[in-house]
Amino acid sequence: MQNWKSRPAEFRRLWSYSVGFYGVWVGHIGRRMGLFEKISKNSLSPDQLASATGLDRSAVRAWCSAAKSLGFVKQRGGKLAMTGRMKEILLDPSSPQYLGGQFSYLAGRSLGYGGMDELFKSGKTKDMSSSFDAIEQATDWDHYAFLSAVKSNKHLHSLLSEGCRFLDVGCGTGTLIEKLCSAYPHSKFVGVEPSPVAVGKAARMAAGKPVRILKQSGESMDFDEEFDMVYLGESLYAAADKQKVLANCFNALNKTGTIAVVEGLLSDSGTSMEDQLIMGMQIDFALQGHRFLTKKEIRTLLKDAGFSKIRFQNFGGSLFLVTARK
Ligand SMILES: C[S@@+](CC[C@H](N)C(=O)[O-])C[C@H]1O[C@@H](n2cnc3c(N)ncnc32)[C@H](O)[C@@H]1O
Repeated sequence: MQNWKSRPAEFRRLWSYSVGFYGVWVGHIGRRMGLFEKISKNSLSPDQLASATGLDRSAVRAWCSAAKSLGFVKQRGGKLAMTGRMKEILLDPSSPQYLGGQFSYLAGRSLGYGGMDELFKSGKTKDMSSSFDAIEQATDWDHYAFLSAVKSNKHLHSLLSEGCRFLDVGCGTGTLIEKLCSAYPHSKFVGVEPSPVAVGKAARMAAGKPVRILKQSGESMDFDEEFDMVYLGESLYAAADKQKVLANCFNALNKTGTIAVVEGLLSDSGTSMEDQLIMGMQIDFALQGHRFLTKKEIRTLLKDAGFSKIRFQNFGGSLFLVTARK
């Protein structure tokens, strides 16, 4: 029998991936079932937590001992509690430290990973239409990072504050537009989205707001200098004809307009701990029939579409904001 310390480093590294798998699920279940929410307000014993949430007692007990062992919660005098830092990381989408949404994205997306067999054997991909719940969990992070970047950019902040026309290409369920609408009530928003499932949800959000949602792809847009800003949030990678989408974005902008692209981008080395998530996520994108772009590819695409002043801002975790002017 080998003890833990005598195990090779490679063994311990791979072991930590198995633990990480359960960490993702314990984090996701705690958020989805409202367990963290309850503990974040009051310290509770496992049985009190089961009563307060109305959930199955045995399942909650198992979750509590896992959550304690994995360091999500602390136990004092038989009661579970969360630190302020842990609440921020798991429950506060507007915090730059927020990771909870990522756990929910990973757990939600992995429900479709049964499709990996077919992908690897016959190249059959699965579109993202059944994953909008998971996508919403992940892109909250992008949206708050974008809002904070806009706030600290004098030009973009005053444009939106004074009231501008904003186009969101591949707007999904409209969750960025919803946030922008309340932050910048003088602006007007158009969301373009090809998925009928997402359009249905976005249209419900848009009711009564200065928002129009159109069911179309970026390739089929036909706007003529109607917008001050165009945004593509993790949608360019998904477009079949990226050059056409960017040419349409260029035409949609007025003469001094700005394009903002938020995308996960592959780095050249891909070996740092920060890179490892996007490197692993490549199998998720392959299942969707897509791949991540590199910085070089996105720069070339924007240049070829006629954009200039291309700037990259690192949001962390391989997520970048790329801005350019018409
Ligand atoms: C990862 S989701 C991001 C959604 C949204 N932008 C956000 O930040 O929450 C990618 C979106 O791009 C949309 N999409 C896929 N192909 C597209 C295309 N050719 N033109 C425009 N949008 C597209 C998908 O339907 C999906 O809603």
